[in-house]
Amino acid sequence: MGSVFVTRIVPGRAIAMLEDAGHLVDTWPGELPPEPATLLNRIRDADGVLALLTDRFDAPVLAGAPRLRVIANVAVGYDNVNLDDAASAGVWVTNTPGVLARTTADFAFALLLAAARNVVVAERHTRAGGWRTWSPTGFLGPEVHGATLGIVGFGEIGREMAKRARGFDMRVLVSTRTPRAEEERGLAVQHCPLETLLAESDFVSLHVPLTPETKGLMGAARLALMKPTAILVNTARGPIVDQEALVAALRAGRIGGAALDVTEPEPLPAHHPLFTLPNVIITPHIASASVATRSRMAEMAASNIIAVLRGETPPNAVMHPARPRGT
Ligand code: NAP
Ligand code: GLV
Repeated sequence: MGSVFVTRIVPGRAIAMLEDAGHLVDTWPGELPPEPATLLNRIRDADGVLALLTDRFDAPVLAGAPRLRVIANVAVGYDNVNLDDAASAGVWVTNTPGVLARTTADFAFALLLAAARNVVVAERHTRAGGWRTWSPTGFLGPEVHGATLGIVGFGEIGREMAKRARGFDMRVLVSTRTPRAEEERGLAVQHCPLETLLAESDFVSLHVPLTPETKGLMGAARLALMKPTAILVNTARGPIVDQEALVAALRAGRIGGAALDVTEPEPLPAHHPLFTLPNVIITPHIASASVATRSRMAEMAASNIIAVLRGETPPNAVMHPARPRGT
């Protein structure tokens, strides 16, 4: 029997699963994440934490939670956790692979389509009473079918993007850390250097994790390689794009537009220049937000906690601490 802190109300059966396993569950009721001091206070005596990407974990936090054995992130990305600190403290870290890629790719493709075909700007125009007649020149955008899509990071979500692109008869270029020829052949994509991908793509969609190597990956020099009509889609993590460079590129017309589900910081402050640009779509980090997927993610996190508190290796560990706490 353990004590588990759940840092936000989550959909699905996750909390019932933890309770059915005999654990005492303390759920943060707020709409906003617990402040760092509150998080620390609530995990002081906890054995496990079902955490969100808005909760940060590093050495000082782990030192304040001496019983904590597992951080189960309700996300596939885990850049909110300092893995080295968790490993040193003997705390398992788990994520949610295998359950969200299709949902996330659906949304990334929706952003691509919305940005290309002016869905958001035209809808706003219509609501504001601007629709006066059918116009042969209004809201013209680039063609999506038959265009070239560049996928940066060919993991679970990147591969699902490629499948969706096939349905639109797109040519797909891929740049990724570990090319896998068989997978690329199977999905009829072509691997190439990032620079070539940027120069040749009409749409560039980012699907790498946030790591020291990918932070600022899309800086001024790489944005300048893109076609002036090209649209950048980011559903990965905000800091992968140098946002100041992005604003400058958009203002100068060096790229055609951007559709961002992730920003730095999140949320963006209301006065941020990105909000002033008509060729930008910003959504509040919702690419995995379907009822079924978010429920599965939370339930997967609960399963990982249950496994650790039973003394087992969690099924979705992102690293294996040399000396797990409590063993
Ligand atoms: P994944 O399956 O691990 O795929 C990531 C891919 O990126 C892998 O192919 C990996 O290569 C590649 N990669 C890693 N570092 C790289 C680098 N420096 N340069 C080039 N390629 C690199 O992850 P995923 O499930 O597709 O998710 C990707 C990211 O999307 C997550 O980490 C998360 O940040 C984000 N995400 C966002 C949302 C949202 O709601 N907006 C939802 C889900 C995920 P290797 O094969 O060599 O590892
Ligand atoms: C969401 O951003 C995730 O990483 O799952």
